[in-house]
Amino acid sequence: ALLDDTPRPLAGKRAIVTSGPTHEPIDPVRYIANRSSGRQGHAIAAALAALGADVTLVSGPVSIPDPAGVKVIHVERAAEMLEAVLGALPADLAVMVAAVADWRVAAESARKIKKKPGDKAPTLAMTENPDILKTVGHHAARPKLIIGFAAETHDILANARTKLDAKGADFIVANDVSPETGIMGGTRNSVKIVSRDGIDEWPEMDKEAVAARLAAFAAERLAP
Ligand code: CTP
Ligand code: CA
Repeated sequence: ALLDDTPRPLAGKRAIVTSGPTHEPIDPVRYIANRSSGRQGHAIAAALAALGADVTLVSGPVSIPDPAGVKVIHVERAAEMLEAVLGALPADLAVMVAAVADWRVAAESARKIKKKPGDKAPTLAMTENPDILKTVGHHAARPKLIIGFAAETHDILANARTKLDAKGADFIVANDVSPETGIMGGTRNSVKIVSRDGIDEWPEMDKEAVAARLAAFAAERLAP
């Protein structure tokens, strides 16, 4: 470590990263969730730590290992993710990569819902989940730099631009996850960085490379 001369531009900076999906229970054996491997968010947490940041990663259920050198808080639901994120404030930087379930089941069943011969399929009443990015974006202890993600299948840039303002983010990393791109669940990503000043298109690269470039980008923005 003494001979390691890697620049640490994020030394002394605190970062919060959300990653993975959230699972919203229907009953003890069933849930509703978004698709997310956690690969991009976990890689970003690791890349920020590699630049010296003190990183808290709040992760929903994923099948990949915890990144080294990062404090990981494991959660299941959006409500738990919000609580963990708020508990990690104050921070200099927040990167919200999680695919948070937009809705949860309004009346979760404490017991397994059983199929009975002749019964029709149940109808699930849903209620909206808290928006974690929006909450942090409008928080009294708002981090100086907030980066959100927008996985879209259509009108990518317009949707990302709307999210920038609605959520109080500084940047939205937009990506096209329409099935024909093969991005979803894969190891590569093709992103556009949307800000109030315009759009920066990055070439397709490994999720680790996107993470490294985003960490360097964040370090530049946080530099005095
Ligand atoms: N996000 C969040 N909490 C939510 C929903 C989204 O923190 N309840 C964050 C995501 O982590 C991401 C950004 O907001 O950084 C955009 O998420 P996205 O699902 O694309 O946006 P939504 O506002 O939920 O809109 P929609 O799903 O309708 O596109
Ligand atoms: Ca959503």
